[in-house]
Amino acid sequence: MTKCDFTSVDAVWGNIARVVLPREVIAHRVKELAAQVADFYDGAELTILAVLTGSLIFLADLVRDLPLVMRLDVASASSYPGGSVRSEAFELLMPAKSDFEGKDVLIVDDILDSGQTLTRMVESVQASNPASVRTCVLLRKRRSDIVAGIEPDYVGFDIDDEFVVGYGLDYNHLYRNLPDICVLKPEALACDEGSDLS
Ligand code: IMP
Ligand code: MG
Repeated sequence: MTKCDFTSVDAVWGNIARVVLPREVIAHRVKELAAQVADFYDGAELTILAVLTGSLIFLADLVRDLPLVMRLDVASASSYPGGSVRSEAFELLMPAKSDFEGKDVLIVDDILDSGQTLTRMVESVQASNPASVRTCVLLRKRRSDIVAGIEPDYVGFDIDDEFVVGYGLDYNHLYRNLPDICVLKPEALACDEGSDLS
């Protein structure tokens, strides 16, 4: 682990190696996803359950393109402790179960990686007798080590198995406010948790 400079925005954003998905491409695709979702739920009341914190920006863009009667709930899932790039521990905080009884629920998350988060979320919602449960992710990683994973109903982009940040996604709590989805320089993925030069 090395010490990294998190003391200025230039230093932090200087850790970006390249843009994987520019903001215009994301915006266009989010509108397409919203149109598919709106078509499917046409006439029904939709309950969205968003997974904090990574889905926040995607969620905000998606729901403003959904001309539906809609409720919004949030759950909190954390599977990446500190500066790791693979799920290790897992913690899920759901809203009250009764919220989903008889509802058409759409779970919205930023990225499908191992599939653990989405699988656990679906199981948890199913336990409260919803009318239906569907899933929507902005990104899906192509992982050769995962054979039969969960298949989301809506996927924005399939991406290579590399760690991405921006548009809500973080590394070590930083980079969520980048407008584009980017990969970091290798040395930026080897920072000591919480370290800085100060
Ligand atoms: P899973 O449970 O392994 O599918 O992991 C899903 C969660 O891990 C996502 O909701 C993200 O919060 C986080 N995650 C997975 N891959 C990345 C990544 O490349 N960048 C940032 N966060 C990620
Ligand atoms: Mg997440």
